[in-house]
Amino acid sequence: MGKIFIETYGCQMNVLDSDLIRSRMASQGWSSTEHKEEADLILFNTCSVREHAEERALSNAGMVRKLKKEKPGLVVGIVGCMAQNRQDRLFEQLPHVQLIVGPRHMGAIPRLVEEIRATGTRRIAVEDFDDEFIDGAEAVQSRAGGAQAYVKVMEGCDLSCTFCIVPTTRGAEVSRPPERIVEEVRRLAGQGTVEVTLLGQTVNSYGKGLKPVIDLGGLLRLLSGVEGLRRIRFITSHPSFVRPSLVEAMRDLPKVCKYLHFPAQSGSDRILKAMRRGYSVARYLELCDTLRREVPGIELASDFIVGFPGETAEDFRRTVDLMERVRFQNAFVFKYSPRPGTDAAALPDDVPEEEKKRRHQELLEVQERISRVKNQARIGRRLEILVEGPSKREGRQTGRTDAHQIVNFEAGRDLRGSFATVEITGATALSLAGRLA
Ligand code: SAH
Ligand code: F3S
Repeated sequence: MGKIFIETYGCQMNVLDSDLIRSRMASQGWSSTEHKEEADLILFNTCSVREHAEERALSNAGMVRKLKKEKPGLVVGIVGCMAQNRQDRLFEQLPHVQLIVGPRHMGAIPRLVEEIRATGTRRIAVEDFDDEFIDGAEAVQSRAGGAQAYVKVMEGCDLSCTFCIVPTTRGAEVSRPPERIVEEVRRLAGQGTVEVTLLGQTVNSYGKGLKPVIDLGGLLRLLSGVEGLRRIRFITSHPSFVRPSLVEAMRDLPKVCKYLHFPAQSGSDRILKAMRRGYSVARYLELCDTLRREVPGIELASDFIVGFPGETAEDFRRTVDLMERVRFQNAFVFKYSPRPGTDAAALPDDVPEEEKKRRHQELLEVQERISRVKNQARIGRRLEILVEGPSKREGRQTGRTDAHQIVNFEAGRDLRGSFATVEITGATALSLAGRLA
């Protein structure tokens, strides 16, 4: 049929969606290529979370116009969140683009590409009815051989954080039935996958609307029974859904990694309220205490947004304060980017860019100091890691601990996909170094 090239932006869910698209296309006779120049179909699987991500995709999609000129049969498409967000305006902006497909219609891609190739006319699928998801269970084969795999358990978001475009682009929450997820993970494990990362926008609200009743804790329990599987991760959690059954699952199930990424976003109650996050700083801190008490050895991670409308120096100081009190394993820090159509976009974007940059830098430095001290405290310990493959430096391999710390170590042979015990001999803010124990 031809060759497909996909350029992926943004989150892990997009990485998985791109795999699912490749797999669906493969079932129709398409092969994948790493080179745009030899492709018959080029898709940009896009992200809308911050303006910068959209701009990059727009600019790169603009550049393939030349390829389309040289090869008129080439089909260029924009799929994913920006497709949903900008819809047919993209056709005006990018005249050589013929296909626009939102995240809930990825399954329509083969059919639409066929139609475009047959008629030479454009196609768009962004309506909010008639979901056409691609189910992960059908793409097990194409993910074979990897020690790790992403598994989508839910998609969409029913919350309405005022800064966030995701509920608009991914739509309302839908959870996959547990049987299908178990089946998918069982097949992955049968092909050598030892670690799965369950994906969802608010992954710990998993189960909403399903009968019989189930939650993420219950799903983790089911998946723990899958033979051959060694580790289960899940991202991203929302503080409002950190329920006792989830805490118990992390405490009691050895395969469930003791690592919780649950974004705080801000350390100021005033800002949390304006963001409509649904919890207070006190509640967040209480959760951290509960988690550390109930799940010994757990590591916590967070996202923060700096420069949200109306964020004062005092609000920011409270965010620094929260970071210092919790001592996260790692934290992602973003400068606020107004997204047209969100509630926050109606507020004046009043923190000057220079000040956003300064706060961004300061928060990163605070986290870096914390990460370095925490990592240095691990020197001398023996940690079990899942080896991911060769590291950037010659002769070394890299892997991760249960708590998601990166460990680099000397190894004579490729240990990819296996577990190894490493004695930690050195540490930076970002990673640990060690030798096989
Ligand atoms: N729960 C979702 C969050 C998606 S966005 C998920 O993980 O799938 C990921 C992170 O981007 C958020 O936690 C937030 O910190 C940041 N973010 C979202 N919207 C943003 C915006 N308008 N400006 C800056 N950062 C933003
Ligand atoms: Fe976005 Fe908040 Fe949902 S960050 S994805 S609206 S939980």
